[in-house]
Amino acid sequence: MNPTNKPDINQARSKIQQLKNQFEQRKQLANSLEPIKTKIGVYSGKGGVGKTSVTVNLALSLTKMGYNPGIFDVDIDCPNITKALGVTNKPQVDDQNRMIPPELHGVKVMSMGFFQKNEDEAIIFRGPMIHNAINQLLSGTNWSGIDVLLVDLPPGTSDAPLTVMQTLDLDGFVIVTTPQELAKLDAIRSINMIKKLNHNIYGIVENFSGEYFGKGAGKEISKNHDIDFLGSIEMRRSYSDPQKIAYLEDMEANNEYNQVANKLIQKLD
Ligand SMILES: Nc1ncnc2c1ncn2[C@@H]1O[C@H](COP(=O)(O)OP(=O)(O)O)[C@@H](O)[C@H]1O
Ligand SMILES: [Mg+2]
Repeated sequence: MNPTNKPDINQARSKIQQLKNQFEQRKQLANSLEPIKTKIGVYSGKGGVGKTSVTVNLALSLTKMGYNPGIFDVDIDCPNITKALGVTNKPQVDDQNRMIPPELHGVKVMSMGFFQKNEDEAIIFRGPMIHNAINQLLSGTNWSGIDVLLVDLPPGTSDAPLTVMQTLDLDGFVIVTTPQELAKLDAIRSINMIKKLNHNIYGIVENFSGEYFGKGAGKEISKNHDIDFLGSIEMRRSYSDPQKIAYLEDMEANNEYNQVANKLIQKLD
C-alpha cells in the first residue's frame, strides 16, 4: 500500500462518518417532528411590534377551533413566551429522556428561556451555536399531541433569524407589522428575506391598529406584495396586564384573533 495515500483514506473515512452522523441527526429530527402537521413562523423585522403577543393569542384562538397548538420560542435574545402565556413550570422528562413541553390553556410550550439560569440573563449565541441549540431542542422534545407549531422568531434580517429559518424548515410565515412607517418598512424587508429564501408566506397581521398609530399598513403591504391580509388587531388596554392574556379577558381582542385564525386555517387547508 502506498503510504502517501493514507491521509486521503483517513480523510475520506472521517468525511463518511461525518455524513453518517448528519444523516442520523436528520433522521432523529424528522422522527421527533413527525407528529406536527404544520410549522408556522411568526416574524417581523422589528422588535416590539407584537410577535410574542400574536403568537400566544393566535395559539389560544387555534385551541378554540379544535387544534392542539404548540409554541416554540426561539427568540434567542428575548424568549418571552412563557411570561406572556403565564407558564411557570419547567419541562418534565419522558421515559425516553425527551422533554415534555409544559402546557397551559391547551397550548404546549418549548422555549430557549427554560434554559436561562435567571430571566434577566442575556443569551449570547452565534450562528453555529444557534443551529446546534435549536437542533438539540427540536430533537430532544416530545412533540406528540401538537398539530400546529407556532414559532416565535427573533426579529431582524441578520444572523439569528436567518439561522433559525434555515434550521427549522418552516411551512410558512405570518408577518406582523404595526401601522407605523418604520415597522412597515421592516415588514417589507422581512417579506423580501423570506421570498429570497423561497419560503411561503401565509399572510400579514397588523397589530397596534387604531386611534394612536392609525391603520392600513397591513392592507397596503398585502396589496403591494401580493400576500394575504389576515386581519388587524387594535391597540388595547387589555394587553397591559402581564398576568392576563387579552384573548381570554377581552371579547373584542378575542374576536379579532378568531378572525385571523380563521383566515390562517383556510390557508393551511
Ligand atoms: N394590540 C396591542 N395593544 C396593546 N399592547 C400590545 C398589543 N400587542 C402587543 N402589545 C404589548 O406590546 C409589548 C410588545 O409586544 P411583544 O408581543 O412582546 O412584541 P415582540 O414580541 O414583537 O417584541 C408587550 O408589552 C405587549 O403586551
Ligand atoms: Mg417577543
